[in-house]
Amino acid sequence: MFEQIQAPKADPILSLISEYKNDPRTTKIDLGIGVYRNADGITPIMQAVARAEQQLMTTETTKAYQGLIGDERFNTAIQTLLLGGTSAMARASTLQTPGASGALRNLADLLAFARPKATVWISNPSYINHRPIMQRAGLAVQEYPYLNMVTKAVDETAMLDQVAQLGPDDVLLLHGCCHNPSGADLSLDAWQRIGELAQQNGFLPFVDIAYQGLGDGLDADAHGLRLLADAVPELMISTSCSKNFGLYRERTGAAILVGNDLGQAQNGRAKMCELARGSYSMPPSHGAAIVSTILADDELNSLWRAELDSMNLRINGLRSALVDSFRTASQGESYDYFGRHKGMFSLTGLSDAKIARLKAEYGIYIVGGGRVNIAGLKLNQVETLVAAVVAVDVDVAVDVAVNV
Ligand SMILES: Cc1ncc(COP(=O)(O)O)c(C=O)c1O
Repeated sequence: MFEQIQAPKADPILSLISEYKNDPRTTKIDLGIGVYRNADGITPIMQAVARAEQQLMTTETTKAYQGLIGDERFNTAIQTLLLGGTSAMARASTLQTPGASGALRNLADLLAFARPKATVWISNPSYINHRPIMQRAGLAVQEYPYLNMVTKAVDETAMLDQVAQLGPDDVLLLHGCCHNPSGADLSLDAWQRIGELAQQNGFLPFVDIAYQGLGDGLDADAHGLRLLADAVPELMISTSCSKNFGLYRERTGAAILVGNDLGQAQNGRAKMCELARGSYSMPPSHGAAIVSTILADDELNSLWRAELDSMNLRINGLRSALVDSFRTASQGESYDYFGRHKGMFSLTGLSDAKIARLKAEYGIYIVGGGRVNIAGLKLNQVETLVAAVVAVDVDVAVDVAVNV
């Protein structure tokens, strides 16, 4: 059998990482990676996490199975972090999952079970794994217009025109905040309108929120989601602790169902447990134990929030520095979008030819499609980056050369 299997093409992000590693230039800049980096260029273990781990070392008494729903303290705490203060809290049920990726897949499996003919609508562009996860669960996928590549903002008119056409067989997958890859988020008016349209036309909203706290803060980043949760009868949510707790490799996330009533949401969760039993079975415990320890302890909770705020501050400081530097270097405002975007990413729209030139001539590594990770940057690299981008961007001959 194995002789029939060909190795798939290497993931372009992974190849970029190894090219970057092997590049001897000391001035090289890595904007391709999808994780937060601090001012020293490392992805640190948060202090609140390290302290929670120390506590767990002394209090944990068993490694016996935890069960399909995971850690209920974690489930309640994560649900509150996202939906606290909404009426949806009383009709929501949460399942611990292996990261948001696990949640996306569990929810997709539930959709495939309950609404096998559903079409999942994803934004254009969207997180690279949205389409394959939905399709591997057997669901049809279509795209709705999202980013205006000229303004680098959400084209809400085009998006809402499409959303207004959706009906009961459709699922609308939204990014809760810090859109990946574009950095362009929906306005609160748009969230409100989506809620009205879902009520009128019966499509199911599905919010993937992987960066709560990395845009404008924990509550502000959940604002749109909360408006929606209050407005619609049913809602699916996938969430991640990879970025805001820095728990990437601990695979910590959750799938939340908001139902017409609590019983329906719990039935949905029970079905997801059954479906999970047919794949990974039970979620890993360590990351969720860390998160529930932090969120239950006032001191650790405050420490975590302060650390998250400082990550946020660093990203937003870099964004401001980029805007200032681009204004000076380009004598214009066409790069101001860096200041309007939220979270770690911005989609620059740089062509493949320009990305190749940035890598070859300047040692600047950007993934195909032009997504940059602002958190990959150090403050003292801003001017170098800006000068290089402006130099290749004005040179339209680069694109022409590749297109012929
Ligand atoms: C929008 C979005 N959803 C989900 C995920 C998956 O996150 P996790 O690491 O928790 O599986 C990511 C990770 O980059 C993401 O950007």
